Amino acid sequence: MSKFSAAFGASAVSVVSSILLIARRPRVLGRRYPRLLLAAVTAVALAVAANEWVGKPVMFLRWSYVRFLFGLRHMGAHWQVGDGREEALADYVCTHARRNDIDDVIRVIDEFCYTKSYLINVGDEKGQILDRAVVGARPSRLLELGTYCGYSALRIARVMPDDAVLYSIEFNPANAAVAQRIWDHAGVGERIVVIVGTLGDHGKTLTALRETHNFAPGTLDFVFLDHEKDEYLPDLHRILDQGWLRSGSVVMADNVKYPGAPEYREFMRCQEGATWRTREHRSHAEYQKIIKDLVLESTHLGPPANA
Ligand SMILES: C[S@@+](CC[C@H](N)C(=O)[O-])C[C@H]1O[C@@H](n2cnc3c(N)ncnc32)[C@H](O)[C@@H]1O
Repeated sequence: MSKFSAAFGASAVSVVSSILLIARRPRVLGRRYPRLLLAAVTAVALAVAANEWVGKPVMFLRWSYVRFLFGLRHMGAHWQVGDGREEALADYVCTHARRNDIDDVIRVIDEFCYTKSYLINVGDEKGQILDRAVVGARPSRLLELGTYCGYSALRIARVMPDDAVLYSIEFNPANAAVAQRIWDHAGVGERIVVIVGTLGDHGKTLTALRETHNFAPGTLDFVFLDHEKDEYLPDLHRILDQGWLRSGSVVMADNVKYPGAPEYREFMRCQEGATWRTREHRSHAEYQKIIKDLVLESTHLGPPANA
């Protein structure tokens, strides 16, 4: 949506709904609507219009966020909002960010999310927690579950050692293609390998990691979980069953509070000091300061002593 169309659209809706509100018998296409509903539509449309006109300071009132909420069903099935914003991001990056400049590409993605369209990246605030964890782990082989548009992978690639390789697993091939375009533009397309699949796809992706990408026992230093929240724990167990983690490997999990991964959090609580040591980082959900979130950074202590 162009810069002014959301502002004009919301203003038009607020004008029409307020006219209906003061009409004696409010009717649209022959149907009568309760005044309470019209008052609510007027209030929301006015708030969205005012927010758009003054430069979108309130994330939740931005048309892009409202449109995101309308797209939640599509998101649940396809992991894209459904209005082409993921492809629009890749176009925006290629036209606005300096080629082969990873800092600038990350900056431009954040700018797109704050000023154009909201996206479910880890974001700039939690991204800094991720950066610090990667630096501290000094990893050689990293695995990410949930690529989306490649933002977190860029942040990881920026701070991982020069000889490290990040493998990123993505369920939706269209998202993988968007991410690859952005990584290539940033000049890190060769340091990140995207694999379309899931760890739960009956062994296909696990086999590819083992046989094509040489994942072997004790060789995985860092894992970032940022995909389907109900799959955090099953996928961690799949990784543990392969024996890829070593004592000292770090697993980070985003969105543990919002939207929430309670079983994963409970598992880490129960394992505290036995097989895992966990730090809970308090933060906010991406690109706003109202909804709180938690990022868990868990260090593997190896198998239990009696195993
Ligand atoms: C929250 S987004 C990831 C955001 C990304 N890590 C970032 O910060 O830039 C979640 C992504 O996980 C993908 N996904 C969902 N379920 C998955 C699964 N079981 N395995 C791999 N990817 C999955 C979705 O298609 C979506 O692109």
